[in-house]
Amino acid sequence: MLEHLKVSDFGTPRRESEQEVTLEIDGNQVTVPKGTSLMRAAVDAGIQVPKLCATDSLEPFGSCRLCLVEIDGRKGYPASCTTPAETGMKVRTQSPKLQELRKGVMELYISDHPLDCLTCSANGNCELQDMAGVTGLRNVRYGFDGANHLKSEKDESNPYFTYDASKCIVCNRCVRACEETQGTFALTISGRGFESRVSPGMDEPFMESECVSCGACVEACPTATLQEKSVIWLGQPEHSKITTCAYCGVGCGFKAEMKGNEVVRMVPWKDGAANDGHSCVKGRFAWGYATHQDRITTPMIRKKITDPWQTVSWEEAIGYAASEFKRIQAKYGRDSIGGIVSSRCTNEEGYLVQKLVRAAFGNNNVDTCARVCHSPTGYGLKQTLGESAGTQTFKSVEKADVILVMGANPTDGHPVFASRMKKRLREGAKLIVIDPRKIDIVKSPHIKAEYHLQLRPGTNVAVVTALAHTIVTEGLLAEPYIAERCDDKSFNEWREFVSRPENSPEATETTTGVPAADMRAAARLYATGGNAAIYYGLGVTEHSQGSTTVMGIANLAMATGNVGREGVGVNPLRGQNNVQGSCDIGSFPHELPGYRHVSDTTVRNEFEAAWGVTLQSEPGLRIPNMFDAAIDGSFMGLYCEGEDIVQSDPDTQHVAHALEAMECIVVQDLFLNETAKYAHVFLPGSSFLEKDGTFTNAERRISRVRKVMPPKAQYADWEVTMLLSNALGYPMNYKHPEEIMAEIAALTPTFSGVSYQLIEQLGSVQWPCNAAAPNGTPTMHIDKFVRGKGKFIITQYVASDEKVTRKFPLILTTGRILSQYNVGAQTRRTDNNQWHSEDRLEIHPVDAEDRGIKDGDWVGIQSRAGDTVLRAVVSERMQPGVVYTTFHFPESGANVITTDNSDWATNCPEYKVTAVQVMPVTQPSEWQREFSRFDKVQAELLEQRHAAESVVGK
Ligand code: SF4
Ligand code: SF4
Ligand code: SF4
Ligand code: FES
Repeated sequence: MLEHLKVSDFGTPRRESEQEVTLEIDGNQVTVPKGTSLMRAAVDAGIQVPKLCATDSLEPFGSCRLCLVEIDGRKGYPASCTTPAETGMKVRTQSPKLQELRKGVMELYISDHPLDCLTCSANGNCELQDMAGVTGLRNVRYGFDGANHLKSEKDESNPYFTYDASKCIVCNRCVRACEETQGTFALTISGRGFESRVSPGMDEPFMESECVSCGACVEACPTATLQEKSVIWLGQPEHSKITTCAYCGVGCGFKAEMKGNEVVRMVPWKDGAANDGHSCVKGRFAWGYATHQDRITTPMIRKKITDPWQTVSWEEAIGYAASEFKRIQAKYGRDSIGGIVSSRCTNEEGYLVQKLVRAAFGNNNVDTCARVCHSPTGYGLKQTLGESAGTQTFKSVEKADVILVMGANPTDGHPVFASRMKKRLREGAKLIVIDPRKIDIVKSPHIKAEYHLQLRPGTNVAVVTALAHTIVTEGLLAEPYIAERCDDKSFNEWREFVSRPENSPEATETTTGVPAADMRAAARLYATGGNAAIYYGLGVTEHSQGSTTVMGIANLAMATGNVGREGVGVNPLRGQNNVQGSCDIGSFPHELPGYRHVSDTTVRNEFEAAWGVTLQSEPGLRIPNMFDAAIDGSFMGLYCEGEDIVQSDPDTQHVAHALEAMECIVVQDLFLNETAKYAHVFLPGSSFLEKDGTFTNAERRISRVRKVMPPKAQYADWEVTMLLSNALGYPMNYKHPEEIMAEIAALTPTFSGVSYQLIEQLGSVQWPCNAAAPNGTPTMHIDKFVRGKGKFIITQYVASDEKVTRKFPLILTTGRILSQYNVGAQTRRTDNNQWHSEDRLEIHPVDAEDRGIKDGDWVGIQSRAGDTVLRAVVSERMQPGVVYTTFHFPESGANVITTDNSDWATNCPEYKVTAVQVMPVTQPSEWQREFSRFDKVQAELLEQRHAAESVVGK
């Protein structure tokens, strides 16, 4: 194996113990924590014992018998992977007898193994091959012509990996990986003795089994039995770089294994603190979009959106965009333009976009898509705890005794964290799920929620208040903790408020739909079950009272003393890779980097001095305000980097009208997305593989994104923003994103210790990182809350304006699924479509029967905002009266249905509550027909693109 690709493998997992044992291995003294295997102790002593069935990500199994050792005073040859080290032991890992035994084991394996090493895809990276070498195997006495598995058929059903049973040595590593690491339990060893083989599900092909294609089994397999198809096609990689997944807020570390500029595979990084070597189907396999033929790699411009695109040089495109922005500002005023930056972009890119808007545009009209997902988290946690971020590491869940999941679907949205959480649940932690749907985690192999509070969508605040009522009125408060750490006045007011009879589980039962007894029992478990941790997602934030629920969650955690140590806390599961980071670095119109309000003169002065400009002291426009202002005729130009507002924002038709009203829309993206169809300038973007930078995950962990190939369109996104700024007359001259991070650190107290050098040294770092915490802060609010005393906030439930009526009798709620991501622009351009190729509408059997709807039927969904047509999935996961869909495919138009209702504090859209009617239909909706027409026209205009002579100034 190539040295730089070699993963150091200690054979068995690390054991934690306060007691240590000292022993002798091959004459070397070694001291290890009690419980450590002899195999791992030997590695600590610098000795590798041969092994096949052991690997340090899995519990030892003891099946291959290759790791035998001799121990003084003991009979026989125990397996070093399953034998714990004991004080005083004298162990030998090498002797003629051990060599003979190991050779014998290898002979048996090799006699039933195809000897095609030279043409095998794992050649050079195969543990069986390595062990044949290590044991000195030279011939096989049993011959190769006995009964064997050599003719077993390959299972090619999974688009990303193959299963070639002829190469299987039945080491069970894949089965254990699927159970222990992933928690899916899709694999078993079927048959006995010689007939044993790995089988997915009920002896089905992988694609028909419960397998979720996480790749853990592929990673664990020591041979080419389970092998990435990309390795089969391209051969073994020859160099690698550590980088970070560009999909969800878990922020998994990956090793991009390369051949030249081509990615051969993405291997989850064992030392990645967010994922500990695990992955999901998106980060592990769905990176092919980066080289998809749909990528647009030449800048384009056009005067009107009905014109064909003209390909131009970078200079011309940037010059045109700058001249248009200047023209618009001259005509309509300084505030008539703005910028939107995606939370998929790096911290450095986000920082530059907000700097461009504030310093070069001269206003505060900058916003990010975190507006439409976790802005209530930023607001709610800042008010109560004093910092706009989650309190824990993901690893902290390993110390939780009670896990409360609210409005989050971790197995689909945050799969690698879900696996970690499921492991803890299998160890005995108790689970409470608060969700309108019966999501997978409610009941999955070896896991069952103690309580599933299946609330009516839109009643989160009533639920958290009823939980608080139970805790207060049943005397379950953590009184000493509250007395020491929380603000008295706000606590007393809150206690009086939640104690009121109208906030009891019984009084709110008809509103929430949750039986009072379950509500009370769940509250008792949360308050008294030991370390209790809350994990929540967009099912909490994307409501008209999103911020109120976040504050209600923080109230519950403070009231029960569950903030400030491992195993507890308030943990927002961030949707996209850099939602946390984009908020941190000042992408909101009211805040400069580090969540400091633009009205704070001291803070503004610092930035003014550093940037050499005068900054506005009033907040700028939020995304929905930009749309309204565009329709009013006062907002006419937009720079939109990496965000597809047409598909992702609510009330699509309103968004489209706003874009049609603008005079210059500049879209910077990988693809001609839905928003780009309304654009006048297209600037090609770069994928995460083509640039340097950092992402900050839901744990506040800042990790490096590393360039593994040159940008396909010449420039990385941060360079494009610089070009635009320079063309507008505000100079930016960074040579590398490292300099941008240095500027962020210099201007942001919570980031002052962050540098690329520190990240290099530690692997990643969690902010706050400064003089008080030079290596970062894994757990927040340890001795006291960031705001000083924790503040309780009254959470008065106010029913959403979005009410069911005779016309719209059902509630639509939206979410995502495992294989697709957000607007789907990336995952739709991969084989992930094989799992989910269209958005569908989930509907309860009773509602379906009432309407004569059968599984697979086309159904029309209508709300007061619009209507669309999808296919139905009749499912018991739903509760009667509630329907559900995803928003990954533009043509399904889920956001044509969602309304302009939003959170009272932050304008985060109320995606989770829309009153609808659902009926069987036979043809697409009017909106869909118009969408198809517009889509076709825009595809033709792209097709007709041609080099422009020169349009600038015409
Ligand atoms: S498929 Fe690989 S990991 Fe699984 S039993 Fe066979 S050789 Fe071992
Ligand atoms: S890919 Fe993941 S879910 Fe599928 S069998 Fe392997 S470990 Fe299990
Ligand atoms: S869990 Fe999230 S960060 Fe990790 S591999 Fe999957 S999509 Fe990427
Ligand atoms: S490695 Fe110990 S028995 Fe296989």
